[in-house]
Amino acid sequence: AVFSRIAGTGSALPAKVLTNQDLEKFVETSDEWIATRTGIRQRHVAAEGETTADLAERAARAAMQAAGVEASELDMIVLGTTTPDLIFPSTACLVQHRLGANGCAAFDVNAACSGFLYALSVADSFIRAGNARTVLVIGAETLTRMLDWSDRNTCVLFGDGAGAVVLKADAEAGILSTHLHADGGKKELLYNPVGVSVGFKPGEKNAGVRVLMTGNEVFKHAVRALDAVVDETLAANGLAKSDLDWLIPHQANLRIIEATAKRLEMSMDRVIVTVDKHGNTSSGSVPLALDEAVRSGKVQRGQLLLLEAFGGGFTWGSALIRY
Ligand code: ACO
Repeated sequence: AVFSRIAGTGSALPAKVLTNQDLEKFVETSDEWIATRTGIRQRHVAAEGETTADLAERAARAAMQAAGVEASELDMIVLGTTTPDLIFPSTACLVQHRLGANGCAAFDVNAACSGFLYALSVADSFIRAGNARTVLVIGAETLTRMLDWSDRNTCVLFGDGAGAVVLKADAEAGILSTHLHADGGKKELLYNPVGVSVGFKPGEKNAGVRVLMTGNEVFKHAVRALDAVVDETLAANGLAKSDLDWLIPHQANLRIIEATAKRLEMSMDRVIVTVDKHGNTSSGSVPLALDEAVRSGKVQRGQLLLLEAFGGGFTWGSALIRY
């Protein structure tokens, strides 16, 4: 059998930092409200002209360097994003050309905040099927571009960033299993109301593009779905909660993360938390947290990692990885 292993990780953040105190200056909010409700203290915001592809490229180069993989070795690039530079070509194609990996398959996956988990699962499936041996998987977003900075319900929550991993075929797992789910029936609780087919609204700010969210409802659904998917993941592998070394969750809200950790009976010192510094970077959040955990020396080779995410769609998913 063939499995996929993480050969290297990388990440990228815009230089510009926006603190809760900065937000207090232009929207009716407070550091205290944001920190107690979400755990967020600051977020990185892309500079004028800095795009999703820019962040993706930086994260990809770092992951390739860590893996010791050249562009010519890549069989495929799968990029999770809901804020692509262009509608087409895909951001994966833009990044492919910049890396000089022209010729390999390249495409985007849009699963909102679950984008990286979806992309990772697709890449893992190609490798297991024997259709690819070396795959670059990226989660990259500039979600702040679609924010209405006068809407305190949403503008305090999000940040920009990207993370990447290089997967290589290996005789040993690696990625033990991935689990993906969606429920399109909950669209109204978390969505952007404008696309191409629905039509840009010329008279409106940002052509009508924005994040619409019923936060407390999303919160409840997220906790429930994540509880179910982490249970499913352990059961599928015949593992106990105590077998896990690290939880690497989507970074939307510290209270959601704490609820999942409680479900897993894991103390918070076994949970990677970056939401305080990054806010919610959507598809960027899980690979950013993973890269930080690897580079800080927390996550070691041989350890068992549980990755999970929940986002608009709704979409949610998990991956169990022997790092
Ligand atoms: N500053 C101050 N007050 C605020 C702010 C703010 N930034 N935002 C909202 N409030 C107010 C509201 O207006 C409300 O006031 P009211 O009671 O007078 O109407 C009050 O705070 C409470 O609002 P709730 O929405 O009930 O607060 P809650 O405790 O649920 O926290 C939050 C809101 C942080 C959004 C939380 O519900 C949450 O994190 N939800 C999940 C978000 C998420 O995980 N999204 C998924 C990923 S996103 C993606 O896929 C793109």
